[in-house]
Amino acid sequence: MDKLLIAGGIPLSGEVAISGAKNAALPLLCAALLTKEPVTFTNVPQLNDIGTMLKLLAQMGVKVTRETSKVGAGDTVTLDASGLNNAVAPYEMVKTMRASILVLGPLLARAGEARVSLPGGCAIGARPVDQHIKGLTAMGAEISVEHGYVHARATRLKGARLFTDMVTVTGTENLMMAACLAQGETVIENAAREPEVVDLANCLVAMGARISGAGGDVIRIQGVDALHGATHRIMPDRIETGTYLCAAAATGGEVRLTGASATSLDAVLDKLMDTGCEIVAERDAIRLKAPPRLTAVSIRTAPYPAFPTDMQAQFMAINAVAEGTAVMRETIFENRFMHAVELIRLGADIKIDGNTAFVTGRPKLDGATVMATDLRASASLVIAGLVAQGETLIERIYHLDRGYEGLEKKLAALGADIRRVK
Ligand code: UD1
Repeated sequence: MDKLLIAGGIPLSGEVAISGAKNAALPLLCAALLTKEPVTFTNVPQLNDIGTMLKLLAQMGVKVTRETSKVGAGDTVTLDASGLNNAVAPYEMVKTMRASILVLGPLLARAGEARVSLPGGCAIGARPVDQHIKGLTAMGAEISVEHGYVHARATRLKGARLFTDMVTVTGTENLMMAACLAQGETVIENAAREPEVVDLANCLVAMGARISGAGGDVIRIQGVDALHGATHRIMPDRIETGTYLCAAAATGGEVRLTGASATSLDAVLDKLMDTGCEIVAERDAIRLKAPPRLTAVSIRTAPYPAFPTDMQAQFMAINAVAEGTAVMRETIFENRFMHAVELIRLGADIKIDGNTAFVTGRPKLDGATVMATDLRASASLVIAGLVAQGETLIERIYHLDRGYEGLEKKLAALGADIRRVK
C-alpha cells in the first residue's frame, strides 16, 4: 500500500490550481441517470471516488466517455444513460463510497425501481440514510430494506411536502433529483444550503428541471415529464481550497490558488483571518500570506453557511502549532476526531471530551509515523507533516486518493518535500 513521506519545515510558496469539487461532481454524475440524452461535465477531478461512481454507472448500462487532462485542468466526461438496463448498486461498490446512495433518487424517478446497497457505517459515524427513504416514501415510493439493500419501487413519484429531521446534503440532493420527474410540486423544507446543492440545481435546470430556492432552506421543484441533455462545468472544490490555505498558513507560507472561489468559503476565510493570515480574494483566485506565528481559533462545525465539518481536521492541525488554546466542537458527525490521536503522535497537545476538542498550540511538532483514518483526517496529517521537524510517514493514504487530485504533485509544486513511497 502506498505511503506519503514528508520532510517538514518548508513554508509553502507559489501558485497551484484548484480542481473541480468531488462533492459536487458525485451527485452531478448521478443526475445524468435522469435523462435519455447525453450530459457532458467539464472540470471533473481525477479522483478514485469519481472512478468508482463512473464504474457504478457503467454497470447500470450508462455509456461513459472520458477525456483526461493534466492534473488541475479537469476532465471532460459525457454520460449517456439511454441504455440504462440495471437499476442496482451492489454492495461491493457502495461499501467503498457512501455517496453511491445518490443513485437511489434518480434511478427510482427514471426507471421506476432501484436496488441500492445500504452504505452501512463509516469511520466518522453511523451515517444512516433514513431521511432519503422517508422523503421518497412520502413521494409515493414503496420501499423495503432487505438483505442489506434498499429496494424502492414507484410507477411515478408524486410531488409532496418533505421535511428532513436534520440538514442532510446528499439527502437533499437525492430528493431534489427524484422530484424533477415526479408528478406535481415537491417542497423540500430544512434543505441543505451547501453550494454543491446549488451546483446540482443549476445543472438540473439546464437539463429542463423547474427548481427554485436552491441555496435556501426551502427548495421547490415542479415535476416535468422528461429532462434533456446539457453541458455543465463543475464548481471548484471549496474543501480542497480550504485545505491548501490551511497548509500554507500552518507552514508560514504564501500561496495563490487559481480556479478557486472565495464566495463559498466565508466561514473558513474568516477563521483563517482570525489566525492572523492576510487573505485577498480575486475574481477566480485566492491569495494567502501567513503571519510569523498563527493565533489559535475556536470553531464549531454546522451546516452551510457555518463552518464545515470537512474543514475541522485541517484546522486542528493549524491549532496544534498556533499560539493559545482553541475549543473545537464537532456537531455533525459523532466520531470525527480520529486524527487527534495521530496528531498527538506528532507532539500535539489535544484533549478530547465528547464532541469537543481542546487544542493548545505548541511551537513545533516532531515527525513520526502516523495512520490516515478518513479523507479529511488524512489531510490534517499531511498539514501537520509539512510543519513537523524531520520526517513524517503517513500510512493508508488511499483515503487521500479518494478526494484530493494529485495531492503530492500540487504540494511539491508549492515547494514541499513530499513523495509517495510503496
Ligand atoms: C455530505 C458530504 C460530506 C460532508 C457532509 C456534511 C458528499 C458526497 N459528502 O455527506 O463530505 O462531511 O455532507 O457536510 O456531499 N443523517 C441521518 N440520516 C440521513 C442522512 C443524514 O441521520 O438519512 C445524519 C448523518 O449521520 C450526519 C448528518 O445527518 O450526522 C449530516 O449528514 P449528511 O449531510 O447527510 O452527510 P452526507 O450527505 O453523507
